[in-house]
Formats: sequence, C-alpha cells, structure tokens
Amino acid sequence: MTSTNLKPIKVGLLGVGTVGSGTFRVLERNQEEIRRRAGRSIEISMVAARNVERARSIVGGGVTVVGDPFEVVNHPDIEIVVEVMGGTTLAKDLVMQAIANGKHVVTANKALLAIHGNEVFAAAQAQGVMVAFEGAVAVSIPIIKALREGLSANRIEWVAGIINGTTNFILSEMRDKGLDFGVVLKEAQRLGYAEADPTFDIEGVDAAHKATILSAIAFGIPVQFDKAYVEGIVHLAAADISYAYQLGYRIKLLGITKRTQHGIELRVHPTLIPVKRLLANVEGSMNGIMVKSDAAGITMYYGAGAGSEQTASAVIADLVDVTRLHTADAAQRVPHLAFQPDSMSDTPVLSMGEVVTSYYLRLNVADKAGVLASVTGILAGAGISIDAMLQREADEVGGEGATQTDLIILTHDCVEAKMNDALAQMQALPTVLSPITRIRKEELA
Ligand code: HSE
Repeated sequence: MTSTNLKPIKVGLLGVGTVGSGTFRVLERNQEEIRRRAGRSIEISMVAARNVERARSIVGGGVTVVGDPFEVVNHPDIEIVVEVMGGTTLAKDLVMQAIANGKHVVTANKALLAIHGNEVFAAAQAQGVMVAFEGAVAVSIPIIKALREGLSANRIEWVAGIINGTTNFILSEMRDKGLDFGVVLKEAQRLGYAEADPTFDIEGVDAAHKATILSAIAFGIPVQFDKAYVEGIVHLAAADISYAYQLGYRIKLLGITKRTQHGIELRVHPTLIPVKRLLANVEGSMNGIMVKSDAAGITMYYGAGAGSEQTASAVIADLVDVTRLHTADAAQRVPHLAFQPDSMSDTPVLSMGEVVTSYYLRLNVADKAGVLASVTGILAGAGISIDAMLQREADEVGGEGATQTDLIILTHDCVEAKMNDALAQMQALPTVLSPITRIRKEELA
C-alpha cells in the first residue's frame, strides 16, 4: 500500500480556544501540503470544548464535538490527542489517561511539562507512545527540534532566550517611551498584549516553565521547575533601562540555562545584554533564543512567541512527526528529552547563590566626600572587580540643590553569594539612602 492510500490518522482535540481553533484552521487550509509531507491525511475527527455550541460553529458538522474531554481520550478511534486546553490538573489527568490508553499526545502546555514532565515522559516511555511539545516553547520557532535534533552533535554550553512576548513588549515600550512598568502594563492590557491576569508572564513564571524544558533537552537532565530561580520585571524602573542604555546595554527578561563545572544554572530574571547583540534587538512581543554549543558555535532563532496560527504551526509540525513515526519502533524515535532515558544526567541544578554572573548596581547615595570610596572599598574587600561606573550630577537626578545622586556600577563576574554579602554591607552604609537595585548582566559572547 502506498502512503497516499493510507486512511487518515484520527486526531482528538482538547480545547477549541485560540490555539485549538488555529490548529483546526491551518490543518484544513494546508491539508494537501501537510498530507504530502506526513504521508497520509491528518484529520481532527473529535473535539472537546467547554462551550460545545461555539466549538461546533468553528469545526463544522463533520466533526464530533463533546463536552467531556475524557470521551476523546477514551475513544478507540482516536490515535493522537492534542491537548491545547492548558492548566496542570485536568490537563494532566487527560494526558495521563490518553497515554494509558496507548495514544500519542501533542501538547503546547509548558506548565504541565515543566512541573509534571518527568512523570508524563516516563508513562509515555512505558507505553511506547510519543509526547510531542514543540508548541510549549516560543511557538513559531522550532527550538525543540533545533536543540533535540539539529544540534545533536554538540555539547551545548548555554541557552539564553527572550521566551516571553508579553514582558518583552512591556520592556520595549518602557525603553521607547521612558515609562515605568505599571503604566506600560495597563496600556499593554488595554491593547490586548497582556492578559487580564498577567501574573505568570510579568513574574517570570511562564519564561521559567519554558527555560526548564530547554534546560532538560539541552543537557539531558530531568525537568526541574522547582529548582529554577524566577524573578520577573515588576520592580524594573524606567531609570534603570535608561542608565543601562547609556552604558551600552538593553534590559531583557531572559531565560538562561548554562552548563558549568559545578552544575547547571537555570534562571529567569531581567538581564542587561550588550545592545550590539542580535538578541538585544528582539523587540515588541517577539521571541529570540541564542544557543552556544561547542561545534556549531552560537546559533540564534527568532520568531513570534504566541498567537493562534503561530502556535498551530508547532502543534501541526508535531502531528506530522507523530504521523510519520507512530509505526516506527519506539527505540528508533527521538527521545522525549533528547537523550536516551537510560542516559540522562544527574548533574545538579545550582542554587542562585552558586551562580556566576556580572551585575548592574544602582545606589542612591548622599552626594558627599568618601561615599564612592566606601562603596568601592566593600566591593574590593569582597574581591569583586568593577567594570564600569556612571555617576550622575546630583541636580540631574534630584533637581537643583539636590544632595543625593545615583551611582551606577557594572561589575565583572563573581559568584552571587559574594555579591549578596557585598550588597548587604553597602546597604548598611548610612550614605546609601534607598534599597539598592541589582540587575544581572550577561555578555553572551
Ligand atoms: N504568554 C506567553 C507570552 C505566550 O507572553 O510569551 C504563550 O507562551
């Protein structure tokens, strides 16, 4: 039998929201192109949605629409379950049930995989089914494919990415318009760039889910969201964006995972990066990811990190992969986390105190003799080397006659625990008048 004679592979879709409807639309629009690639047609034959009427109006009469998603994962005709409903409770039960029923799963659910991935992948391995998740990270960018397959010759050294579009949009607006975080967030919500409840985005949790997945496939370690350091952008001031720019840097919310001699770094936080790096020029709601590996060197990936058809692009690519490989011996397939399950590494994820990076510090200080000496003395005592400094005229910061000013210091690399000690000592100086701002810096060279 030639591949074109094969019957369509039957897909069950869980969720007909933004991503689900986009998946249905793109699959229908490009069905012939997709069939030529996959070797047989891919057909969504059953969908589950909370609002059955609305779902019916989207998928039309030829598709069975149900309100109970378990009907989909338990249906004997369904070979692949696409989970695009989100959440980590019901979605997890459904994915586990689908796997137990011997169905392959395609999911764009980064929270589910970052938190429960080890359990999900172990169950899939035991059942000989695939769980594909290209849509979980930076949707339009095939970064999972690149790391897991394209770069499989390499020893990956680090991955650093702008992997949350909402926060990148906010940071770009703050820089462009010189506005503070709260003002831009309200505007972003009004324009629909930020969700009504933007907590996961602005506090860095969404980026940390994605960074956790990237760390696992870059280094062959289990997913360990609980070990990720997570710091969002809510405390960023327009002044810091402006000072950073004067020093040749932009501030981005980065997800960083790095292999070091002592373990794996896994962290999300606002980061100064040199303005001359391509990554610094990823603006608005776009995503960008840099990967440093030993043979390929630095590679970079750019594209939309959200959107209906942008996510559908990733979901359908996974559907094509599963359609091609579902009859293959499970051992011949690409392992879920890039490395064979019996060859995973137990290299520990480091605590933030053990991370080595460089820093931007802003100290609001009394403008009088000896202040600079006492600050630099503390840094010198801690063995922290200063890379650059910027001191504003007091009246530029506080207006005419002001007696306080901002002192900006860029440091060279040091271990974070040492910086924490130095910060505590500087903060205790009577001439340091406000809480010190500390933002980490990466050269990405
Ligand atoms: N909320 C995410 C973002 C998109 O702003 O990038 C989906 O991962």
